[in-house]
Amino acid sequence: MTIKGIKNSLYQELNTLYNDDEIEAIFRYYIEIRLNILDSFLFNDDKIEFKTPHFEKDLSELKSGKPIQQVVGYAFFYDYFFKVNEHTLIPRPETEELIYLITEKYKNNLPLKIIDLGTGSGCIPITLNKLYPTANVQAIDISTEALKIAKENNENLKTDVKFIHQDLLEDFQLDYKYDLIISNPPYIRDLEKKEMHINVLQHEPHLALFVSNDDPLVFYKKVAQFGKLHLNNDGKIFCEINQYLGKETQEMFLRYYEHAILHKDISGNDRIIEIYN
Ligand SMILES: C[S@@+](CC[C@H](N)C(=O)[O-])C[C@H]1O[C@@H](n2cnc3c(N)ncnc32)[C@H](O)[C@@H]1O
Repeated sequence: MTIKGIKNSLYQELNTLYNDDEIEAIFRYYIEIRLNILDSFLFNDDKIEFKTPHFEKDLSELKSGKPIQQVVGYAFFYDYFFKVNEHTLIPRPETEELIYLITEKYKNNLPLKIIDLGTGSGCIPITLNKLYPTANVQAIDISTEALKIAKENNENLKTDVKFIHQDLLEDFQLDYKYDLIISNPPYIRDLEKKEMHINVLQHEPHLALFVSNDDPLVFYKKVAQFGKLHLNNDGKIFCEINQYLGKETQEMFLRYYEHAILHKDISGNDRIIEIYN
């Protein structure tokens, strides 16, 4: 099939699900990962034929609303490709901003002991282990299926993260104290489902996304309590947060810690909270 053929098919078949910008992004992602072509313009004609044995199947999955990252099996995050499937949240650009913020804060004083609570594909601890190779990095998740993928990513990307199967909502204690506790826990309230695209609702793990309308900060309270037992004196907690609950999240953390600073994401929404004493 030619690159033009792939592009035309995607535009024709996906236009009821996605707008043009989204289809263009899917097209670029698709040819980059499936065909290893970084610049489609170089091949944007009807002459060069590429072998595309997966295309029919891929197109039918895309038409069913399956996200492009799950169709090709990989998501790009920070500097790396992470394996993903239906059990792992697709790493988001907002979460990359969390990594950028941490790298700004930890330029000289390198964190030695790091833990990520609710790790999914392992994108956060693995990226941090790449950035801080001397750090001891751990990560927790309740989902054995997600942990399986996270471990594969750890192996593929040659990092040394230790994964722990644990329910964060249970009472538990680990043997260590940490310089850096990070979490991007489930934070979308059930009431926000109506704002969401069908491809997220039908194909991404609800376990990774949703919390009840009644107790939307349930995971952040647990992170705060975990930190009380496990944060070093000069340690910090960084969490990705629900943009609509910035003030509430801040007030909750201030009941446990002296400082809780909100940071905005690139779209100007409250997205990250930085906590320390
Ligand atoms: C929003 S996802 C974040 C995944 C990944 N850290 C990222 O940023 O892409 C939240 C993660 O928390 C995990 N999780 C949900 N409930 C949990 C619980 N009770 N205990 C531990 N992990 C949980 C989910 O399996 C999911 O991987």
